[in-house]
Amino acid sequence: MTQDELKKKVAEAALQYVKGLSVLGVGTGSTVNFLIDMLAEFKSQIDGAVSSSEGTTAKLKKVGIPVLDLNDTGTLEVYIDGADEVNEHFQMIKGGGGALTREKIIGAASKKFVCIADASKYVGTLGKFPLPVEVLPMARSYVAREMVKLGGQPVWREGFISDNGGQILDVHNLTILNPVEMEKEINNIPGVITVGIFAIRPADIVLLGSAEGIKTLQ
Ligand code: A5P
Repeated sequence: MTQDELKKKVAEAALQYVKGLSVLGVGTGSTVNFLIDMLAEFKSQIDGAVSSSEGTTAKLKKVGIPVLDLNDTGTLEVYIDGADEVNEHFQMIKGGGGALTREKIIGAASKKFVCIADASKYVGTLGKFPLPVEVLPMARSYVAREMVKLGGQPVWREGFISDNGGQILDVHNLTILNPVEMEKEINNIPGVITVGIFAIRPADIVLLGSAEGIKTLQ
């Protein structure tokens, strides 16, 4: 099976968490894009979705699902999103697609965070995937120097501007042994908008797609 086929399968498995919902949170990325296509089937049941990026907003609208403002919906029952890495504690690295800030907000505002990923994303220790850190543009070099102090090698994602007007540093070579502590530490650096460690609020359910089928971790 190709990675895309696995992503499609795992997106399909996530539909069980959509049944009966009128509103849900929708993440960003290629795995979620498969889910959005499948959400079209639920159009009559769904009043709308809270979107984590402009890209997801455009896709939702294309399949006919209204996009709602998180300020109007209040707490969401379910948020479904992909990940770049996920560990056995359901802590994740996210932000490969640059949507980490809105993803973290919606995850925090949701009762159930369902992570959907192909099994290659399941890791023992977070950090092999370069850690995305969204920064205010004027703070980029300062935050980069702070990342070096932490042992990382920051690379500016040149030419990329986030939906919030932020820039992104992809920090290589970090071995994240204590994700909660590192999330707090990086979040506390002036100029950091969001760090792509999702550990303070990990996923509640992880669906992993592999050639053997879907594994549900909860
Ligand atoms: C978007 O900013 C990311 O957090 C994505 O959720 C993550 O990169 C997973 O993307 P794929 O489903 O494309 O692998």
